[in-house]
Amino acid sequence: MGQPDARVWRDAFVICVSIVLVTVLHYATDTKFLVLHEAFQRFYYLPIIFAAYRYGVRGGLATSLFSAAIYVPHIFFHWEDLRAYALSQYWEMTLFQVVAVVTGLLSNAGRRERRKSEQAAEALGAAYAELKATVEQLVAAERMASIAQLSLSLVHEVRNPLGAIRGATEAVETCVDSAEAREFLGIIHTEVNRLNRLVSDFLEYGRPRPPEKLPTHANEVVESVIALVKKRAAEQGVAIRRDLNENLPVVPVDSEQIKQALFNLALNGLDAMPDGGTLEFTTVAEGDGVAVTVSDTGKGVAPSVRENLFRPFLTTKARGTGLGLAISERLVSQNGGTINLVTSSRPGTAFQVKLPS
Ligand SMILES: Nc1ncnc2c1ncn2[C@@H]1O[C@H](COP(=O)(O)OP(=O)(O)OP(=O)(O)O)[C@@H](O)[C@H]1O
Ligand SMILES: [Mg+2]
Repeated sequence: MGQPDARVWRDAFVICVSIVLVTVLHYATDTKFLVLHEAFQRFYYLPIIFAAYRYGVRGGLATSLFSAAIYVPHIFFHWEDLRAYALSQYWEMTLFQVVAVVTGLLSNAGRRERRKSEQAAEALGAAYAELKATVEQLVAAERMASIAQLSLSLVHEVRNPLGAIRGATEAVETCVDSAEAREFLGIIHTEVNRLNRLVSDFLEYGRPRPPEKLPTHANEVVESVIALVKKRAAEQGVAIRRDLNENLPVVPVDSEQIKQALFNLALNGLDAMPDGGTLEFTTVAEGDGVAVTVSDTGKGVAPSVRENLFRPFLTTKARGTGLGLAISERLVSQNGGTINLVTSSRPGTAFQVKLPS
């Protein structure tokens, strides 16, 4: 702030000093040297034009009035001998004001234009920066999309050899007697199955199949999920309970996809109850649709993942992929439904899947 103020004072000082200097030169030069005398008189225009250019109409007028005031005594000085000369002096003083106003107006207009171009340049700069950021984001997104596409192709290619390894392992298992060799083959089998599931999950998430919506009985889907998990539940000492409403409307969904979604929820429930508990399936009519709840009596959802449960690759399990809930959410939503974590004071976890009519 201090700097522009200092500049204004410095300029004002220069203007005043020039006017005083011009006045001294003008007064001191006798009219005998008329050419020189009149030349000095015209020098008043320099500070007037400078002030008007620098500070607009107001600055210019202040300077021209000051110049005129300081000039007046000179007219009376010559009043007696040169009346006609005095008249031309009045005209000159009027010209001071005219020049100040015209230069000031031009300067004001120039300043306004300059401000406009500065603002336009600023807006242009901001737009350019925004555009640059957007282009960078687009390039990054495109790169990510290519990487994702490449990963999907790779994973797809992995599936066939995995099937061959599994087949070969099963074939070798039948003709091996050694207990040690069988144990190693068992490990290969388990790991190949795990890889196979990972590959299937990845492809399911990366290349979702569009749903084939057909009238579906939710209770039948629930029963098919129970059939898939009951062996593992028994091994873990988990009791399966069902509370299925018999009067549900049929819902137009892809039953295989909803089964997959509920299966993932049931698997999570079993994972959360390694030492036994209860896995419960409930169905109720919800408006014109159906709500299916899968609940367990396990350890509950860890606070660290509660906010982002459906985000892909988020897992707290040593051997989890973190795709189960992301896939379930994708499958349910592409069938027009919703999936939510139910908040309740009961121990364990419950997820509710709502299917529309
Ligand atoms: N029933 C549940 N009880 C406790 N925590 C759960 C339950 N369901 C989900 N979670 C938490 O949410 C995380 C994400 O679950 P999600 O099914 O997406 O992946 P995951 O089970 O870890 O791995 P994946 O299903 O791919 O094998 C889990 O790691 C777990 O921490
Ligand atoms: Mg899971």
